[in-house]
Amino acid sequence: MPYRGLLDRYGSLLNLPAHTRPVTLLEGNTPLIPAENLSRHLGGGFDLFVKFEGLNPTGSFKDRGMTAAVSEALGRGAKTVICASTGNTAASAAAYASRAGLKSIVLIPQGKVAAGKLAGAIAYGAQVVQIDGSFDDALTMVVQISDKHPICLVNSINPYRIEGQKTAAFEICDTLGRAPDWLCLPVGNAGNITAYWAGFKQYDELNATGLPQILGVQAAGAAPLVLGHPVENPETVATAIRIGKPARGEQALEAAEQSKGRIIAVSDDEILSMQALLARLEGIWVEPASAAGLAGLAHEIAAGNFHPAGKRITAICTGHGLKDPDIIIKGMTKPQIVAPNLAALEAVLLV
Ligand code: F0G
Repeated sequence: MPYRGLLDRYGSLLNLPAHTRPVTLLEGNTPLIPAENLSRHLGGGFDLFVKFEGLNPTGSFKDRGMTAAVSEALGRGAKTVICASTGNTAASAAAYASRAGLKSIVLIPQGKVAAGKLAGAIAYGAQVVQIDGSFDDALTMVVQISDKHPICLVNSINPYRIEGQKTAAFEICDTLGRAPDWLCLPVGNAGNITAYWAGFKQYDELNATGLPQILGVQAAGAAPLVLGHPVENPETVATAIRIGKPARGEQALEAAEQSKGRIIAVSDDEILSMQALLARLEGIWVEPASAAGLAGLAHEIAAGNFHPAGKRITAICTGHGLKDPDIIIKGMTKPQIVAPNLAALEAVLLV
């Protein structure tokens, strides 16, 4: 059977209204990549898999929720969708809206969106509005305007986004034959952790696949769920999760508690070190926020808070490294320039 996208594959398990009209870019079906080198580097003795969500059509996991949300909006007769975004939701909303023939409007925090995301939103034809404020300000504004005008909100407050994102948990269980022992993932606005937990619970009820313990990871400068209060001026190099008031914060805490897991914070240095390690040891290049789940795992192992022996661990890498090239370019030494002849090449390579 050719692959026809997530609503085709898992639609019967998703709570979507009958009027839903599928809009798909054949999202999902992303690889679960064994990461043996990284596992060994972290001490070994456990199975580590990376669910590489950066391989979705617009380069992030957002496409899972967006196929559901835009399909519902189209079927309902919506003409315009809107979202606040740190970048990935914006690009995804813009792509799916264009495919559905809808207009998209995206609000982003000024100067804090990675180049590949902003470029995507523009390429896909969104009306991009920069807010002189944070993601949290932008989210408040899109909630207000969609309450007042016939514009469909496609942030993860929209329940169909969560329905679509549950499919990642289904795929992991289908590939492994059961749920992993631990699931590590970054937490920003907390839609994804909410969706994974709902997805694993649903699959376990249907197929007895078991439940993972969930390790949610925030950036230390944007860690409201760890601190227990909103953060007014969140700051982190992982701009995707630069969020101070997560819309689904309560549900994220519930997922951590019910799964006997936890939510922790890691520093920007830990995030960037893990980003580099994953690229160099496994050939998997992810954007900074996407390395947070694995950085959290490394942090817990190093601190002796977590004993991975014999465990099966899955880390969710939410977005592709190409989304944020500047973070690499800023830190690199400029490649050498060599005269266009063999002798010059030998002089630099064979010293
Ligand atoms: N990783 C990446 C790459 C993200 O873009 C996001 C969220 C997250 C993790 C966190 O997921 O919000 O469900 O907890 N990005 C949103 C956006 C906020 O606008 O693209 P979450």
